[in-house]
Amino acid sequence: MSAGITLFTGSGRLAVAQPHVAAMPGTLSPWALLVGDGRILWVGEPGELPSEPDADEVLDLGSALVTPGLVDAHTHPLYAGDRSDEAAARLAGQPYTGGGILRTVAATRAASDEELVDLARHRLMAEVAAGTTAVECKSGYGLSTDEEIRSLRLIARAADGLPLRVTRTFLGAHAVPGEAASASDYAHTVAKQMIPAIAADGLAEFCDVFCDEGFFTLQDAEMVLSAARGAGLRVRMHAEQLFRTGATELAIRFGAVSVDHLEQLDEAGVAALAASNTVATLLPAPALVMRGHVPPARGLLDSGVTVALASDANAGTFGGWGQMPLVIGLGAALLGMTIDEALTAATVGGAASLGLSMERGRLAPGLAADLVAWDAEHEGAFALRLGSVRARRVWVAGREVQIET
Ligand code: NIG
Ligand code: FE
Repeated sequence: MSAGITLFTGSGRLAVAQPHVAAMPGTLSPWALLVGDGRILWVGEPGELPSEPDADEVLDLGSALVTPGLVDAHTHPLYAGDRSDEAAARLAGQPYTGGGILRTVAATRAASDEELVDLARHRLMAEVAAGTTAVECKSGYGLSTDEEIRSLRLIARAADGLPLRVTRTFLGAHAVPGEAASASDYAHTVAKQMIPAIAADGLAEFCDVFCDEGFFTLQDAEMVLSAARGAGLRVRMHAEQLFRTGATELAIRFGAVSVDHLEQLDEAGVAALAASNTVATLLPAPALVMRGHVPPARGLLDSGVTVALASDANAGTFGGWGQMPLVIGLGAALLGMTIDEALTAATVGGAASLGLSMERGRLAPGLAADLVAWDAEHEGAFALRLGSVRARRVWVAGREVQIET
């Protein structure tokens, strides 16, 4: 593609996903979109195309459904090992405990840098090939200062050169490692040792805590979040996945950009989120695999909370990479969202969950020209063809990405 101006056009549906601009419909058909310098310059109906600037290249995408690049705002890509046996045991009635995470920690610590980079890189490539152009990547399978720093550095190496906006999140407080005296002792190490080192080297933008029964208490989480804020990291939280603990209210108090999971959230929690600016990032895939509760998506949406949908691809509760099209379908089929809401949550909502609203997630002037042309003509296909809608062509910052189809 030339470095000049490109005009994209289509006779099909363009999901501009701009719910905040009432005058603009969610979908345009037919449509035209001008891109220059990797950014969107103009989007609208072909008849209203401005006479300037002239396009150097015209790309007609025909009748394909075109959406913004999807944003996967919650993943754990840096790990080795396989826990399919544990998933099978869980589905036969075994409980979910921190022991599973510790198996992955052992396998990850034992793996070489090269092995881990190769594994994570393939996971991220699967994300791009499936239309995800911005992704959040957590550490959390290292659980010591050196291993957590190594994980965050290797995430950057794995992403190096890939056409993907990567946001790194430090999740040292994911489980309590065997060598720690207690959860609170370990949380203390996370707060006093790991966070200062990670912030000083700029290794992460966010800090996350798995605050739940059997993992980290509200007190532990408070210590970690307060250190994170003090060190200039933004905060997010694994909240209310297994039990309703009050993690949501704590996260809101710390100005969390997002609270994630929320399978056990009750009405008071929904109301607390509605009165805050914190995004609710919902993860239907692990909820389905865990045969647990599903989060109250309808209540959150109806009370005006910004909702994101993300994959939560990880080592133990959902192992699918490049599955955001499935996640959109599950948002509708499992969580009771409309397809518009689910697609918005996987684009606009994901960007909000990562603090990237002015950069990604919508097709509007000034934003990155991340576009996906799907092998579908209507967004309803994400539900109808649950998990089988494919990205046919992907552009990141106006440049077409070579994907294996
Ligand atoms: O988001 N809930 C905590 N962490 C992951 C699962 C991690 C694992 O089991 O390896 C999650 O579901
Ligand atoms: Fe997670």
